[in-house]
Amino acid sequence: MRDRILKLLLQNSDEYVSGEKIAQHVGISRAAVWKHVDMLKRLGCEVESKPNRGYRMTFLPDSLAPEIIRAVDVANTTEGHELKYYEQVGSTNDAAMELAMQGAKHGTIVLAEEQTKGKGRQARAWYAPKGEGIYMSIILRPELAPQDAPKISLIAGIAVAQTIKAQAGIQVGVKWPNDVLSGARKLCGILTEMTADPDRIHHVVCGIGINVNQQSFPNELQQVATSMRIQGGGEYARAQVAAQVIGEFFRIYDEYTQTGDTAPIITEYTRMSVLQNQFVEVRAGNVAERGRCIGFDKDGAIVLELPNGRRRRFVGGEASVRSENIYV
Ligand code: BTN
Repeated sequence: MRDRILKLLLQNSDEYVSGEKIAQHVGISRAAVWKHVDMLKRLGCEVESKPNRGYRMTFLPDSLAPEIIRAVDVANTTEGHELKYYEQVGSTNDAAMELAMQGAKHGTIVLAEEQTKGKGRQARAWYAPKGEGIYMSIILRPELAPQDAPKISLIAGIAVAQTIKAQAGIQVGVKWPNDVLSGARKLCGILTEMTADPDRIHHVVCGIGINVNQQSFPNELQQVATSMRIQGGGEYARAQVAAQVIGEFFRIYDEYTQTGDTAPIITEYTRMSVLQNQFVEVRAGNVAERGRCIGFDKDGAIVLELPNGRRRRFVGGEASVRSENIYV
């Protein structure tokens, strides 16, 4: 209800919308409209009200609250998805795992303004300052085998890269297996976790951290991290970025799970990959191998051509590119 009122006000933000019109639009009384507007103000929205003219939206806060995401989601891509929102949480991945254990539906999305124990890959921490980035985790209950799970990270990478390119107009690339970069610095990290039997996934949590409006990073991250704002020069509405990422993610995910065809994912991933044709070192456990990245196979594994001409694939691991000028 409140989502629909907010959307109506946002779409007509250059004029007053009468209480009568809003009441008719959503099918409630004018008194109920007033109560909903009051709630919107408490969320940080600024709404002017004038007797005999109605309400006019003058400010939409930069927030990941479900009401705000749905209001800016003009394509309605978040429709049908439950959005769980926290002002502060340890880790959205941990919260999502917990909710999944309690039976949360496929497609539920957990969002937070701040994480106090944001998790990265390889037991690293993820820097997640309040109100500057997007911290979200998507709960999935796919009919897939556990070995198909890495493709979910690739899908998330493509969805984020396409969104950032569209909204900030900057050059972005994906770095196997789980990063989105601008230049040689990281804009987004993805951490996919799951619970599964040997032959069947119970649920997957795909965690996505996007650096959106940070203007600087702590010393230890300065050389490796960047944000949409640093690269694109503007401030970005996080709700709009989140809504588009969700839309892109499910467009690709649904097509894949309905057709079983990984070719569109691998083609797009290869096109956006910063590793393609580069001389790369891949480390997986205590194995390290160097070779030229000649692509990604249908399972999402990276394929290296080794100096002896043989090929080797890695389903998981860490990759780095070294040349005279770049270290990624
Ligand atoms: C990495 O690059 O190492 C992965 C980083 C993943 C960070 C995101 S932020 C949202 C979700 N919750 C977490 O605790 N981690 C992921």
